Amino acid sequence: MHSVLKCLRAPMRNANAHEIDPAQFRAAMSAFTTGVAVITTVSEGGCHGMTANSLTSVSLDPCLLLVCPRRGSLTGEAIRQRMAFAVNLLADEQAEISQRFIGKLDERFKDLELAFDHLGLPLLPNCLAHFSCVVRGIHPGGDHDIVVGEVVACRARDGEPLVYYRGRVGHHRLQPLG
Ligand SMILES: Cc1cc2nc3c(=O)[nH]c(=O)nc-3n(C[C@H](O)[C@H](O)[C@H](O)COP(=O)(O)O)c2cc1C
Repeated sequence: MHSVLKCLRAPMRNANAHEIDPAQFRAAMSAFTTGVAVITTVSEGGCHGMTANSLTSVSLDPCLLLVCPRRGSLTGEAIRQRMAFAVNLLADEQAEISQRFIGKLDERFKDLELAFDHLGLPLLPNCLAHFSCVVRGIHPGGDHDIVVGEVVACRARDGEPLVYYRGRVGHHRLQPLG
């Protein structure tokens, strides 16, 4: 049986936090379908970016969102330096971009026609939406940081999203109910 399914079908335990296996947690969370974003910023070392799905809208007044870079993430470190970042929401035809931004650092931005927002943050081409954010708080979140950004500019276009589900990226067509 597929290991994810085996894990999901295991009886639920009332274990305390220390007894939970991170792999079990990760497998259970993989049932939560998300979009896929690339978080970009710029620091003295140049452009940085990483694929992320920890993106969450937080507040409308002011407009806040959060993203959770792993401690030690180079992009996370660059965000701390610059105290600003951009969110590039990927469209369904951008699976290659989602893989590229977990791969070799010197190939991530290679041959991409970048635009730069008014904060000087790199924006990837052909995305579904862009958000330019100024960091309003960085909070500890275990082995990740919770970075809260105020959205100072955003724009979106029509199109279908790239989605992440059970550890894989793919296409998704919503079948509205009713
Ligand atoms: C779909 C997907 C979502 C991801 N989401 C996150 C995330 O939210 N936070 C994170 O730290 N890493 C996430 N990663 C892994 C990072 O993209 C990867 O570790 C990357 O190499 C980090 O690059 P950096 O060290 O240059 O910042 C995700 C990877 C994938 C494929």
